[in-house]
Amino acid sequence: MTVPAPFAAPARKTVDPRLDLEAEIARLRRERNAVVLAHYYQDSEIQDLADFVGDSLGLSQQAAKTKADVIAFCGVHFMAETAKILNPRKTVVLPDLDAGCSLADRCPPDAFEAWLAQYPGHEVVSYINCSAAVKALSTIICTSSNAVRVVSSIPKHVPVVFAPDRHLGRWVEKQTGRKMVLWPGFCVVHEQFTARRILALRAKHPQAEVIAHPECEEAVLSIADFIGSTTALLEHVKKSPKKSFLVATEMGILHAMRKARPDAEIVGAPPDSGCECATCPYMRLNTMEKLYLALRDLEPQIDVPEPIRLRALKPLERMLALG
Ligand code: 13P
Ligand code: SF4
Repeated sequence: MTVPAPFAAPARKTVDPRLDLEAEIARLRRERNAVVLAHYYQDSEIQDLADFVGDSLGLSQQAAKTKADVIAFCGVHFMAETAKILNPRKTVVLPDLDAGCSLADRCPPDAFEAWLAQYPGHEVVSYINCSAAVKALSTIICTSSNAVRVVSSIPKHVPVVFAPDRHLGRWVEKQTGRKMVLWPGFCVVHEQFTARRILALRAKHPQAEVIAHPECEEAVLSIADFIGSTTALLEHVKKSPKKSFLVATEMGILHAMRKARPDAEIVGAPPDSGCECATCPYMRLNTMEKLYLALRDLEPQIDVPEPIRLRALKPLERMLALG
């Protein structure tokens, strides 16, 4: 899997290897009045020092209410951009500006706008994994936590376009019984899981529950015992009486699951290659060193042109208002 570099590559800086990065990050966080927000797909050491760890919805809710002057966003570009849309006067830094997302990168705003022209009269529901310019073309935003609720909030007689994840879109269609027009995007990490490999793994763990993120293919979702966003999967593991789980999503979430359920066996589902490597190559570009540098130098910063920000803000606020 190759990682595209859609954003300008920053000049390489070096960090003194003798530095106590945890202590330095804590000091800079205080001095800058900064908050560190981290997605569950970040390295465990970043998750452990963050002020808040969450899924896309939880992180945007935190970004919407933070009183900090600086938001250090340990996630991918569209997440940091969302924080900036919600906080135009705050400084938002992303440790590595190349931390993109296959869904966002493969839904260019020009192509999306031309495609939408074929569907006049449709409401446009966009998954938060898209650029600010695509958000600006949307009626309402959703995340994997609230996609069913968001689509259900649109009157039944109004036709809906859903972008950019076709698997999440198809799953929402099933949950709502509603046909939508789907943009053909996919996540390079979740599309690697196959029902064949997961069933083979379940044969070795017959008591295990298969739990999956809705970005997985339909065949994988059809054999899952539980489907949900990153936070929903974690909550399920916390509450379930089961003692064994096969987890079809990015491996970063296993850290929080194992902390929450030390008594349980938590196994990451293998992608089709068979390796134990279902990690998001974009998310993992962020490191402790880069987080330290981002807090020290207040760069790389996220910037959104004001006309796009104002148009992207409306569908985001519509989503946040749904709770
Ligand atoms: P969540 O909505 O679960 O945070 O998912 C975001 C994401 O990028 C999944 O790949
Ligand atoms: Fe994007 Fe997939 Fe990475 Fe999530 S896991 S950020 S959807 S590429």
